[in-house]
Parts: sequence; structure tokens; C-alpha cells
Amino acid sequence: MAQSFDVQPVDASFGAVITGVRIPELDQPTWQALHDTWLKYALLIFPGQFLKKDEQVAFAKRFGALEFEMGAVSNVREDGTLRVEAEGDDVVKILKGNEGWHADSTFKPIAAKGAVFSAEVVPTIGGHTGWADMRAAYDALDDATRTRIAPLRAYHSLHYSQSRIGHRPKAGTEDYRRLGFAGDENVLRPLVKTHPDTGRKSLLIGRHAHDIPGLAPEESEALLQELIDFACRPPRVYHHDWRPGDVVIWDNRCLLHQATPFDMTQPRIMWHTRIAGDPVSEAAVG
Ligand code: OGA
Ligand code: MN
Repeated sequence: MAQSFDVQPVDASFGAVITGVRIPELDQPTWQALHDTWLKYALLIFPGQFLKKDEQVAFAKRFGALEFEMGAVSNVREDGTLRVEAEGDDVVKILKGNEGWHADSTFKPIAAKGAVFSAEVVPTIGGHTGWADMRAAYDALDDATRTRIAPLRAYHSLHYSQSRIGHRPKAGTEDYRRLGFAGDENVLRPLVKTHPDTGRKSLLIGRHAHDIPGLAPEESEALLQELIDFACRPPRVYHHDWRPGDVVIWDNRCLLHQATPFDMTQPRIMWHTRIAGDPVSEAAVG
């Protein structure tokens, strides 16, 4: 018999807070029930779990193979000193990039399935994480827009998205390589995606998307921006104000996410375990 857990939906079209269960102690039937809950809500938030590294990795592996195990998303160097925002090293550039709405690894041949993400040290102001529901966004489009975007595809590139905020990534630097960026990825993906497990359609957009073939560059940029502006607003967004020990798991196949700015004179240490996408359903086209 499955253990029980409590599901408290957040005030948005998606997302739920899960309490009454310890992640490392989930038995198989309970995990199955939790997986169904995840597919329904797309974002599950587990307050105060304080997972150890191996517990976080083990939890993520129940959802599939990993793209990487434990990536620090942090402004603290290994020696404990803080990165200076104005110096703008590659890590600061990556953190700044994360503030734009995006899905992970869409610029790679296989996009990510999801992520387990946890908070170790959080700043007192800012540094929240927001998610936006691309299923509800698609459902809310008017018929003319749906018809217009149905056949369209966009290129996805980290070079594009980082260049747009004035940070031209150098191919092959260690911090960008950790993100899986070799230097020239630029893959085509449809604007409308069907979820491999639920069959629901969603918008596949975000900061890495650019240059829709068949549209003039300005027209493409305007459409992609218009879609983000429409999609990423209430009731389709939820921002989480982290406390140390919180853990979330999100479905990268139907949500966008962003970090909110924070005072970089304070430490923020987050841990990201990235679940690899299915090589068929998350593959770029062509
Ligand atoms: C990420 C990311 C947002 C945050 O880790 O992929 O976008 O709030 N993080 O740090
Ligand atoms: Mn991200």
C-alpha cells in the first residue's frame, strides 16, 4: 500500500506543495503516485527536505537518466568568496542569463526532461525562482494565433540568448561547457510541442528561441516576444521564495523558468540535478 502525502495546489494553473513525506523514504507505489501528481501539476515543491547530495541524485534518477548530477547554481566560489557582479565572469553571466524565461537544454540536440533543484543558502532579498505553464498558455491562445504558429519552428541557441544580454559566450570555456555548450549549437524545434506522457500541447518558446524560418527577423523576434509576454503572466506563473532545505522537481517539457535578481553581495547556493530528455520526444527536428 502506498504511503500518503499531502498535495496543496499553489495559486496558479499548475504547481503544488507536497508535504507529509520524506523524499529518501518514498517506496515504489508512493513514488508512482507522486509521478502521476508531477505529470498533472508539472511542478512539485517539497519544503524543508534538506536532502543530502546522494539523496537528491537518487530521487532524480527515479525519473530517468541524468544529464548531470549536482551542478552548483551559485555566486559563491569554491574557496567561499563571492563573485563580484561587476566583474561579470562566466558564472555571473550564466546566472544573469537564467533571469530570462527559458527551458533547459533546448539549444542542445536533446532538451532536458526536468530538474530536481534545491536551496542550500538563500539571500534575504530576491533570488526566487519562477515557473510558467506553457500548457495553460497554449490553451489560452486565440484560434488565429494557434493556427498561425502550428506549422512554425524556431532555432534555439545559447549563443543567441547570451549575446542578446551582452554576454557573448566563448566556446569551450569550462563554465559554459558545464552547461553543455560546445560553441555552435543551433537547433530547430517546433513552437508547439506535445507532451510525451500526457499528450497535452504546450508552447515551446523562451530566451534561447530565435529566427523562425519563413519569417522576417523582426517579425520572428516580435512574435516570440509577444508569445513570452502573453504566456508568462498570471494565472500561469508561480514564483517560489526559497528557504534552505526546500526541494522542487519541475517538468522542463511544459514549463519555462527564470531566476529573479538578487543582491549578489549575499551568498546564494542552489543545487541542480538535470534529468535527461528522452532521445525521441525531446529531440530537435532534423
Ligand atoms: C537553472 C536555473 C534558476 C534559479 O538552474 O537552470 O535556471 O533560480 N535556475 O537559479
Ligand atoms: Mn535553467
